[in-house]
Amino acid sequence: MVKPIGIFDSGIGGTSIWREIVKMLPHEDTIYLADSHNAPYGAKPKEEILQLSIKNTEYLLSMDCKLIVVACNTATTNAIDYLRAHYQVPFIGIEPAIKPAALHTKTKKVGVLATKGTLASELFHSTSKMFTEGITVLEQEGTGLVELIERGEARSKETKALLSQYLNPMLEQQIDCLVLGCTHYPYLIPLIKELVPSNVTIIDSGEAVARQTKAVLKKNLLHADLNRKASHRFYINTEANILTSMVGGPEVDVEYKDF
Ligand code: DGL
Repeated sequence: MVKPIGIFDSGIGGTSIWREIVKMLPHEDTIYLADSHNAPYGAKPKEEILQLSIKNTEYLLSMDCKLIVVACNTATTNAIDYLRAHYQVPFIGIEPAIKPAALHTKTKKVGVLATKGTLASELFHSTSKMFTEGITVLEQEGTGLVELIERGEARSKETKALLSQYLNPMLEQQIDCLVLGCTHYPYLIPLIKELVPSNVTIIDSGEAVARQTKAVLKKNLLHADLNRKASHRFYINTEANILTSMVGGPEVDVEYKDF
C-alpha cells in the first residue's frame, strides 16, 4: 500500500504549500489537516502551539503518513525540534525565507510579515541572525490577517486596509524584499501587489518546501511510483465550505472531522 504524505496547518493557509507539493510530486497521495478550530496559532503561547502540533502529528500518524510537512511557520518555529526528537517519520518544516531575501536585497532592508509566535521564536531569531549581517530586518506581526483569510476575506477592503497599515512603515524604510512568513499570506499576494511598488520582491517558501519534501522522500526511499494517480484528503474541524471552494475537485475529498 502507498502511504500518504501528511500535512498540517492551523487552518487553510497551508494549502498554499500543499499546492506546491502536488505540483512537484503529482503521484503522491496527501492528507491535509486544517486545525481551523484552533486558529490562529500565532497568538498562542509556545507550549500550546507545541501541544496542538503533537495532536496533529499523532492524528496524521494514526492514518499511516510516511512523512509530515508542518505547513505552518508558527508550528515549525515552535515545535519542529520536539517533533523530530519524538517521532520516527521525517518532518519538513517551513520558516520565513530570510536567506534568499538577504541574498537578493539591494537596499539592505528586508521586511518580514509573520505571526507573533513566529517572530518571538528562538528558531526564527537564530536563522535571522545567521544570514543577515549588515542587513536591517524589519519585523511586522500580521495580527488579524489569519482570521480574515480563514473567513474567506483574502481580498476584502478590511484586509487591504490592515495590510496597508502593516506594510507602509516597512516601505517607508525602503525595504525591497518582503518575506511572507506565514503560509496563509500567499493568499494575500494580489492585494500586496496593489500596495507595494514594483521594485519590492515578494518572497515565500512554498516551492522550497516542496523541493525539500521531494529530496527527503527520495533519500529515505519513501517516494511513490511515478506512474500512479494520486488522491488527496482534507480534514477540517470547522465548517468545510471555504476550504472546499479553495481545493475541492476530482481526486480531492474535503470532510469535516473532529480532531
Ligand atoms: N499558517 C500559519 C503560519 O504559517 C498561521 C499561524 C496562525 O494560525 O496564526 O504561521
